[in-house]
Amino acid sequence: MLRNDNFLRALSKQPVTRIPLWLMRQAGRYLPEYCETRKRAGGFMTLCQSADLACEVTLQPLARYDLDAAILFSDILTVPDAMGLGLYFETGEGPRFQRPLREEQAINELFAPDPYDSLAYVLDATRVIRKALDNSVPLIGFSGSPYTLACYMVEGGSSKDFRHIKTMLYTRPDLLHRILTVTSQAVTAYLNAQIENGAQAVMLFDTWGGSLSNAAYQEFSLAYMRQIIAGLRRERDGEKIPVIVFTKGGGLWLESIAESGCDAVGLDWTVSLGDARRRVGGKVALQGNLDPNVLFAPPQTIALEAEKVLASYQTAGDDMTGLVFNLGHGISQFTPPEHVHALIEAVHGYPR
Ligand code: CP3
Repeated sequence: MLRNDNFLRALSKQPVTRIPLWLMRQAGRYLPEYCETRKRAGGFMTLCQSADLACEVTLQPLARYDLDAAILFSDILTVPDAMGLGLYFETGEGPRFQRPLREEQAINELFAPDPYDSLAYVLDATRVIRKALDNSVPLIGFSGSPYTLACYMVEGGSSKDFRHIKTMLYTRPDLLHRILTVTSQAVTAYLNAQIENGAQAVMLFDTWGGSLSNAAYQEFSLAYMRQIIAGLRRERDGEKIPVIVFTKGGGLWLESIAESGCDAVGLDWTVSLGDARRRVGGKVALQGNLDPNVLFAPPQTIALEAEKVLASYQTAGDDMTGLVFNLGHGISQFTPPEHVHALIEAVHGYPR
């Protein structure tokens, strides 16, 4: 039995003993101990590929802070790497692919990898982490959404204008649909394998869905996430496996995201939690949504800003059920680690 199941309870809109909280990218470069382990590993991918080191960094934020969930240490780009695109990290430049996906022939040859083969290292890490957590808090598994993965696959790395993928979307939508179909199959198998190996909730990171037009979002991002959710194993050992969908910049589409079959919707800081709860709170739980840059302010301000987010949620319901507190996007690598304490105390102490 989990000693702290508030995160899973909130996702099922059941009563909690405190508002659960975790932080996107909670294991990362803002922690000196992460930087030390990463240096020892020799690189980011070697860190992901060693189950013991991935476990070590997963647990680092939990040792420092009173968090209510752990997230598997890995990256969304492991899937396109397993599809043969050749992922590498150039220092200071973010992720890159050796073979971006632009040619029709390469797209036709694209295949969904068997996660137990080329992604076995992620599943090994999942098992090791789950064991090390020893039922203290739940373990979150994750994947990128097909559209977000396709952005990196087609652009060949990070992009500001998404020129290549949008050219494909408007010129050869059939090719993009083929990429998204195969990637959805890959993601479904990958998330089911994470669940099989111990993930107790899963999250789809749709970081770039918000760059699409309304119609294109429905057709090229949400439709594929819906397909994945329909193919996921939703229960293991008698426990429900909740699914969280996070489309950054997706506030406009809240109602349709809430109807995707997910249990919870992740929100960025542009949305009012109270409005969001009024719009979809009867249907799904919500996760979010403090601006990560608030963590640069002094601790008192951090507490006040966190309380504003919580109060906003509270205006739209009788109690605080159905909320998982998080940042609206990943924590910055420049965050002073000691500032995080003020946030956690404000959330767990709410209402004061
Ligand atoms: O949240 C966690 O603690 C779990 C681990 C995790 C990482 N990446 C580790 C990581 C998760 C859930 C991700 C998701 C991810 N990866 C997303 C979706 C969420 C988001 O941030 O929008 C995206 C778009 C990626 C792709 C990716 N990986 C980029 C763009 C970068 C470089 C950007 C940067 O911050 O420098 C990465 C590398 C990466 N993934 C790091 C970490 C801790 C930093 C790498 C390092 O140690 O040098």
